[in-house]
Amino acid sequence: MRKKIVAGNWKMNKTPKEALELVELLKEKVDTDTVDVVFCVPAIDIIPVAEALKGTKIALGAQNMHFEESGAYTGEISAAMLKECGVQYVVLGHSERREYFGETDETVNKKVKKALEHGLTPIMCCGETLQQREEGVTMEHIRTQIKRGLLGVAADDVAKMVIAYEPIWAIGTGKTATDEQAEEVCAAIRQVVGEVFGAETAEQVRIQYGGSVNGKNAASLFAKADIDGGLVGGASLKTEFEQIVKFG
Ligand code: PGA
Repeated sequence: MRKKIVAGNWKMNKTPKEALELVELLKEKVDTDTVDVVFCVPAIDIIPVAEALKGTKIALGAQNMHFEESGAYTGEISAAMLKECGVQYVVLGHSERREYFGETDETVNKKVKKALEHGLTPIMCCGETLQQREEGVTMEHIRTQIKRGLLGVAADDVAKMVIAYEPIWAIGTGKTATDEQAEEVCAAIRQVVGEVFGAETAEQVRIQYGGSVNGKNAASLFAKADIDGGLVGGASLKTEFEQIVKFG
């Protein structure tokens, strides 16, 4: 039985001071054993939030990292730096990073490998545009993203990972995929993982849905067989996050 995982993706919101306020507001409400809860915070908030989460079961996540070990990469942050600061999860290949910062399946793949090497759990994102959905190429696109993102990763490592299915047209738009649309793609992701890495790995890998998840739609989404929780943007910055975690 896979444990559900609900991760808040704070994106570029909250200064360190504001981050601490939000942690104080949420931490008792979402501190639970039944669901894995993760706060994926801006890099500059990692150190203070790590301190504030001590003694809770809430895990800390980052939103990006570089794929090289260290070196002349101005402005970048390495897996080792995240690890040393108490980060356990890292969001990789979010559609906003692919769209605005030139991330590709190849860079995502390098980052996935580097994160795993350092004992971080990648939350690897995939998702189709509205145009791709309308053209009927969603499955093909998702299968390619998954295969390329996980190229050369050991099955044991894939089993420990989290994959987030986030249809781009549903992110930040208030337009959620229906339970059936979300389940259909999450099941297809599990299937492609099974084809490449075997049935046992497919059974273990956790697959989240993301895209306008809120306190109202989380229950039925998370009840679907292949949806193991959510990656939550906007609603993770509010007390509504408590509702979402309850349905995990
Ligand atoms: P949203 O963002 O919940 O605000 O749609 C989800 C995400 O991008 O991870």
